[in-house]
Amino acid sequence: MPTTPLDGFEPLSTLYELEPVAGEPLPPLLAAAYDGGLRFPSAPIRRTRPYVIANFVETIDGVVSYSTAPGVAGGGAISGESAPDHMLMGLLRAYADVVIFGAGSLREDRGHVRIPTFVFPSYADAYAELRRALGKTAPLPLNLVMSASGALDFDEPTFHTPGLHVVIATTQAGAERLAERLLPDGVDVRVIPPGVSGDTTQVDPLAMLDLLAREYGVRLALNEGGPRTLASFLAAGALDELFLTLAPQLAGRNDVTRRLALLEGLAFAPGQAPWATLLSVKRAGSHLMLRYRLPAHP
Ligand SMILES: NC(=O)c1ccc[n+]([C@@H]2O[C@H](COP(=O)([O-])OP(=O)(O)OC[C@H]3O[C@@H](n4cnc5c(N)ncnc54)[C@H](OP(=O)(O)O)[C@@H]3O)[C@@H](O)[C@H]2O)c1
Repeated sequence: MPTTPLDGFEPLSTLYELEPVAGEPLPPLLAAAYDGGLRFPSAPIRRTRPYVIANFVETIDGVVSYSTAPGVAGGGAISGESAPDHMLMGLLRAYADVVIFGAGSLREDRGHVRIPTFVFPSYADAYAELRRALGKTAPLPLNLVMSASGALDFDEPTFHTPGLHVVIATTQAGAERLAERLLPDGVDVRVIPPGVSGDTTQVDPLAMLDLLAREYGVRLALNEGGPRTLASFLAAGALDELFLTLAPQLAGRNDVTRRLALLEGLAFAPGQAPWATLLSVKRAGSHLMLRYRLPAHP
């Protein structure tokens, strides 16, 4: 296996690291492409849930999706199909025990399968080697779709990818709707009990993470959005880190063309909004790959 990034792919270069990482099990190809090691807390910081990271790409002006335009709703139009960004997406998926995403992303970013090789197939061997080095027995991270309604399209390739175990985390009403459908093989439907708020119309992220830790052995969860799913995690205090690629593009928006920002459906009051700590800054061309730690929650 080559130990330098493949031809035509610009590796990341590290501009800043709060705590330099050494001695990590990144295979040489990934270490070269990422320009260094990558570490997550080995023991869960909070015993009741896995460590949770999120990964997004946004424009300079904070847009994450051209969601009103058919065929360009996904992050690829935002990143400019950036190979370094795709490599990073694959790397984080390879690290993860589960990739969590909302039903909205499944509906709008059609055909996308949230496994490492879907976004960066040329690093398939390196991602597989990383999972082995990390001691992960499953070749692919579990995929978890959050849906209150249970209104899902089972023709999506996510439900027909060999070896991909999919969990639908839903409400009682969503499960009743799903019970009327013929589910593809390898798909679990889990009704998540209401959290402390008692809200039965939404899935409580903390209760869902607790189930993932207890029944699926999840220690590292990757939230891939979209903005409403990310907001529900932040509202619950269930996010430890955010990986944010800043693409050098200005998308804009107006009253007619509404475009989603990083967080939707959640508005913190001034003074209550969480402040993050910058952990690292990497660069690939004019793209910036930022990594933040979110404040600890009780
Ligand atoms: N740039 C990026 O990095 C990036 C990343 C991800 C997504 N995106 C884009 O973002 C857009 C979609 O974003 P979005 O915010 O509209 O959708 P989303 O967050 O993907 O999905 C929202 C839906 O997920 C379900 N959901 C989320 N949180 C829930 C909870 N706590 N309990 C129960 N159900 C929950 C609900 O499904 P039901 O309606 O079924 O109840 C909700 O309507 C797409 O265009 C996608 O391509 C961009």
